[in-house]
Amino acid sequence: MAKKPGGSSSNNSGWSGKMGYVLAAAASAVGLGNIWRFPYLCAKYGGGIFLLVYLFLVLTFGYALIMSETAIGRMSGKSPIGAFKYFKNSKLSAAGGWINALVPFIICPYYAVIGGWVLKYLVGYVTGETQAMATDGYFGGYITSNTQPELYFVIFILLVLVVILGGVQNGVERVSKVMMPVLIFLAVIVSIYSCTRPGAVEGIKYLFIPNIHNFSIMTVVAAMGQMFYSLSLAMGIMITYGSYVDKHQDLEDSTTKIEIFDTLIAILAGLMIIPAVFAFNGGDPETLSAGPSLMFITIPKVFAEMGFGTGAGIVFFVLVFLAALTSAISLCETCVGTLTNELGWSRVKATLIFGVFSLILGSAASLGYGVWGDFTIIGMQVLDFLDFLSNSVMMPIAALAICLLVWRVIGFDKMEEEIGRDSAFKRKAIYRFSIKYLAPVSLVAILISSVLSAFGIISI
Ligand code: PHE
Repeated sequence: MAKKPGGSSSNNSGWSGKMGYVLAAAASAVGLGNIWRFPYLCAKYGGGIFLLVYLFLVLTFGYALIMSETAIGRMSGKSPIGAFKYFKNSKLSAAGGWINALVPFIICPYYAVIGGWVLKYLVGYVTGETQAMATDGYFGGYITSNTQPELYFVIFILLVLVVILGGVQNGVERVSKVMMPVLIFLAVIVSIYSCTRPGAVEGIKYLFIPNIHNFSIMTVVAAMGQMFYSLSLAMGIMITYGSYVDKHQDLEDSTTKIEIFDTLIAILAGLMIIPAVFAFNGGDPETLSAGPSLMFITIPKVFAEMGFGTGAGIVFFVLVFLAALTSAISLCETCVGTLTNELGWSRVKATLIFGVFSLILGSAASLGYGVWGDFTIIGMQVLDFLDFLSNSVMMPIAALAICLLVWRVIGFDKMEEEIGRDSAFKRKAIYRFSIKYLAPVSLVAILISSVLSAFGIISI
């Protein structure tokens, strides 16, 4: 990316080229959310019906939110807290900015734990453990052991911190340019392989054919959380990125590109993983609802059977690792930006303190599957709790704050003028409808139902 997110100055010198913003936003958007999180949620919460709800949300609400965040960033030239205060200098408005800015603080540490799992599998392929990693119980044994997951987590987070401290974010844009096409190419190959295994057809059907019997309120809750997560929304990132976007760039066009790209990669990941669950485990419901471990238990089975599986495993995990790294860098950079801007800390101080914070919270998440396994928060292990807290509680509030800012403070006319600056704003009606009705109603409903269910008051 051309300029670091998290900048506070009232304006900026822009991205490196016409595609700069799209690439940087795509580098942030494409990550573990697409490859690891989407397939397990889709498998768990209904397959085709989850995909349908997800697509609907991305095209309406997700689209409206990316546009809003980017336009808010571009109008104000600031990152989230500054941007909220720029439009209205009140305590409530500042709180709206803070809730957006705080989300990455919760996500970054546990994101690095998963990054560590990816690194471990990469090392596993390099050292020729292709068959061992495909055996049942391997992953479970691994995450419940203490030292290794913790070690790989520490290596991952240190790598991120070194990049941030070294100020080499410019490399991110370059890495992404090469990484993305190769990632897509490999994902296509692996998914073709996966989909042509005997029994895989049932998985393809499960992924694409919506079955209303698989629908539950959790389908919507999970799909909405995933939409925020995958598109890097409701966490201040797109506001900050927007502050670097050229005044003449067509926001609608860029948004569409990011959405299509991000969703395509998620679906490809679904095609790599879900049919494999049917081919190798006969669509066993327990495997389908495996949650965070799904990618790690199915993908190795695919590679173990495939010719050149070890080589494919290495390339695959290198790519997932890079995708995770670029996203983690953007998460961490946002947190450091918030600390330097709002608390006036130096960059080094902010990075170090944030580093210690991440080490503590991430270690709790990592050890939460092992030695601290008995410690749960409202019935959830630490990592699952952090994921729930950020995606199902904080992000809906953050998104609500953005909708209210657009609707009540800035006003649609001004927003639409900003978005349609140089080219006609085509999906205006969907935009208004999403921000005014769809988003607030569904956000409040989701917030209430996910909190009530977490405390066991209702079961969804
Ligand atoms: N969108 C990223 C993913 O899908 C996660 C992320 C969120 C990265 C927020 C940066 C900021 O993995």
